[in-house]
Amino acid sequence: MRILITGGTGFIGSHTTVELQNAGFDVVIADNLSNSNAEVVDRIEKITGKRPDFIKADLSNARECRLVFDTFTDIDGIINFAASKAVGESMEKPVMYYKNNLGIFLNLVEEMKKRNIKYFVQSSSCTVYGEPDTLPIKETSPVKTATSPYGHTKRIVEEMLDFITATSDIKAIALRYFNPIGAHASALIGELPNGVPNNLLPFITQTAAGIRKELKVFGNDYPTPDGTCIRDYIHVVDLAKAHVVAIRRLIDKKNKKDLEFFNIGTGNGFSVLEIIKSFEKSTGVKLNWSFAPRRAGDIIQIWADTSFAEKELGWKAKEDLDSMTSSAWRWQQTL
Ligand code: UD1
Repeated sequence: MRILITGGTGFIGSHTTVELQNAGFDVVIADNLSNSNAEVVDRIEKITGKRPDFIKADLSNARECRLVFDTFTDIDGIINFAASKAVGESMEKPVMYYKNNLGIFLNLVEEMKKRNIKYFVQSSSCTVYGEPDTLPIKETSPVKTATSPYGHTKRIVEEMLDFITATSDIKAIALRYFNPIGAHASALIGELPNGVPNNLLPFITQTAAGIRKELKVFGNDYPTPDGTCIRDYIHVVDLAKAHVVAIRRLIDKKNKKDLEFFNIGTGNGFSVLEIIKSFEKSTGVKLNWSFAPRRAGDIIQIWADTSFAEKELGWKAKEDLDSMTSSAWRWQQTL
């Protein structure tokens, strides 16, 4: 089976390519390299012993998107990671975010319909739940009004998929990720943020490496046990494996609905201070940090109810927090 991975040289896409190839799939990566580089393809080959096909393409451009499918005519399914993903940037450039993230999705669906490609896995996010009313959060919990154009595009794509799968042969799974962190055990691939990182783990590893002076912990007066926000951090390799299971479920026609949603987290919530503690313990490196005011738009706490994914997909995250923080550090040290 041949799977097109859009955004396949990025953080989650590269790890998913590795796991798919390890599971025997053939992969074509399409990426515009706006936030990654082509050397990732060499590294995937080093890890798996197999070179994925690669095509540089801006999939938000209909002509370039078509060319991908004209070049690789044997694609059976798509895993869509290609998107702009910075929350803050999306507040400054909402139109760009809608054009890019929705344009990529619609161009892909048009090609799927034309070429009778039926299986689609979408990279979605727990951001669709907003600030949860009850925890842990289930897939059946209500989705909330988006707080950023980035989050809005994730919700809109889920909603478009609902109608598209209902009115065509396309079957889809949307994986709602919690907070992916960590890196491959080989330290050959990992997260490569552009400029100053927004996300916690890259900021921690860059601070430990001396690239940033100090980590600011945003807020210490939240109604949580230690006053800092709580998230469900998941190892990127566990997350990558969930994609293999999801595309297989569609190919094997094990899906129970035309569109299914799954929470992809560990089911455990950790505070920012617990992440710092894990990082220091697992790496032996002391982190320079201090408290700072709350960051606008942050939710207080969220973690997943993973029972539906466990039951239906037979998938469960295996890696613990120390393995997440230590692998992120090993990767940082190679940069
Ligand atoms: C953010 C996005 C989410 C997106 C995800 C991508 C928001 C509101 N949400 O999630 O939609 O899918 O990134 O990975 O932006 N923190 C610090 N200091 C820092 C950086 C972060 O204390 O320098 C704290 C934050 O306040 C938060 C936690 O660390 O409590 C995690 O932050 P982050 O890694 O940015 O992820 P989210 O905000 O959960």
